[in-house]
Amino acid sequence: MRSWRHYHSNREGALVALIVLLLPVFFPGLFSPLGRVSPSIFSEWNAPKPRHLALLEGALHRKISDEQKSELWSQLSPQGWKPCIGSASRPVLPAKSSGYIQVFLDGGLNQQRMGICDAVIVAKILNATLVIPHLEVNLVWQDSSSFEEIYDVDHFINFLKDEVSIVRELPKEFSWSTREYYALGIRATRVKTAPVHASANWYLENVLPVLQSYGIAAISPFSHRLAFDDLPKEIQQLRCKVNFQALIFVPHINALGESLVKRLRNPVNPHSNEILQEVVEENANEESGKFAVLHLRFDKDMAAHSACDFGGGKAERLALAKYRQVIWQGRVLNSQFTDEELRSQGRCPLTPEEIGLLLAALGFDSKTRLYLASHKVYGGESRISTLRKLFPLMEDKKSLASVEELTKVEGKASLLAAVDYYVSVHSDIFISASPGNMHNAVLGHRTYENLKTIRPNMALLGQLFLNKSIGWSEFEQAVRAGHKGRYGQIRLRKPKQSIYTYPAPDCMCRG
Ligand SMILES: *[C@@H]1O[C@H](CO)[C@@H](O)[C@H](O)[C@H]1NC(C)=O
Ligand SMILES: *[C@@H]1O[C@H](CO)[C@@H](O)[C@H](O)[C@H]1NC(C)=O
Repeated sequence: MRSWRHYHSNREGALVALIVLLLPVFFPGLFSPLGRVSPSIFSEWNAPKPRHLALLEGALHRKISDEQKSELWSQLSPQGWKPCIGSASRPVLPAKSSGYIQVFLDGGLNQQRMGICDAVIVAKILNATLVIPHLEVNLVWQDSSSFEEIYDVDHFINFLKDEVSIVRELPKEFSWSTREYYALGIRATRVKTAPVHASANWYLENVLPVLQSYGIAAISPFSHRLAFDDLPKEIQQLRCKVNFQALIFVPHINALGESLVKRLRNPVNPHSNEILQEVVEENANEESGKFAVLHLRFDKDMAAHSACDFGGGKAERLALAKYRQVIWQGRVLNSQFTDEELRSQGRCPLTPEEIGLLLAALGFDSKTRLYLASHKVYGGESRISTLRKLFPLMEDKKSLASVEELTKVEGKASLLAAVDYYVSVHSDIFISASPGNMHNAVLGHRTYENLKTIRPNMALLGQLFLNKSIGWSEFEQAVRAGHKGRYGQIRLRKPKQSIYTYPAPDCMCRG
């Protein structure tokens, strides 16, 4: 799966991105909510049925001992690492700014988040002033939310003011430097050649001269354009400071997230009045007030890209093959592996049914408060229903919040994702069914705060799900044995890996 995201950002990224961007113009129907069924176009599903009936039967009758439960829900024990972003000497604000840095960021909420952090660092390296990054309208997600609509700008600017100077907008003399200006022609102040994972030196050699000549440089594309390695410790720590402390959501997002967290912790009628909830809150014991977040990313892009078979029959196979052809124009080849080979290599995203079986085997009982962080599932409710059978108390934004509470975020993918991010970071346990940007961002944040995060063993699960003769108790045992040490234990960042996913050791110290 790792290849999936990289695909958009690496080699053919630009071309693919262009095609993806243009697609809605030519095939608007393709992009009508990917997760919702649009029967007017084509019917791809003979409503997917459970594929692992014997296991499902076992899971529905699972018995989980109190000991297992308390182990599962206990906090992650201290691992000898704690956040430290003040250990290196703090970079000081330069006496004089070398000019303005502008960036235009593509992608969804979490990809843009990494871009924002990198933009602060590039401004720092160049002693420049950063203009609040422009978030591109994402046509696939149909969201035009600006930085100011997602993040608390005053906090962001103030929090970093002693290290990097940041302004809301360009001064009048530079007001010509807009996205439209760069879209219309070749411009001397546009930097468009930043290589993926460019070094600090690259910026000093290629962008500093632009700043010195014109007083401004607009860098685009910018996603993934700053290296994770070979940067001074104080710069790395500043990256974490931006990500974990300077970037906070606007108050209404935090408030909505906080309400959802409260309702998950206090299992009463979510729409009941506040007074009743407060009473319950007082009485709630530790055990009952816990909840887990499942980030379920099982969308059509992912299903199609994996080239795996998800049990929707011939209609689904054809639909996914067609989607692959239209979107990637033959650049994502039909896999040379069979479905079976892909599965045993752990290269197929887990279906909602499979993730449900995994959770059941790990010891989540049917009373688990499970929050579903996801807004589109390929196959819709018919694919989720098996998961819901195993976890009848499953909730999401829609089930927990009233229509009025959701009005400000409704239909805005980035704001909805921000609410999910908030709830994910505040949960007792987080598990993601597919490694992607959201998973990586939340994993990094939770590692930084030593919170439990389950990392599915995809290869093991692929093999277990292929075994049609395995019974529930063998499955359960194999799953537990295969997930020892996968609950959020610190993994140190390796070269090339993202500091935002693996904040240790750069931003965490022993002790
Ligand atoms: C940035 O400012 C610092 C401190 O004033 C200075 O040491 C450094 O050389 C400057 N770097 C650039 C690229 O101007
Ligand atoms: C399938 O599971 C059964 C029961 O655990 C086991 O005996 C058998 O070896 C497994 N088959 C394969 C191909 O792994």
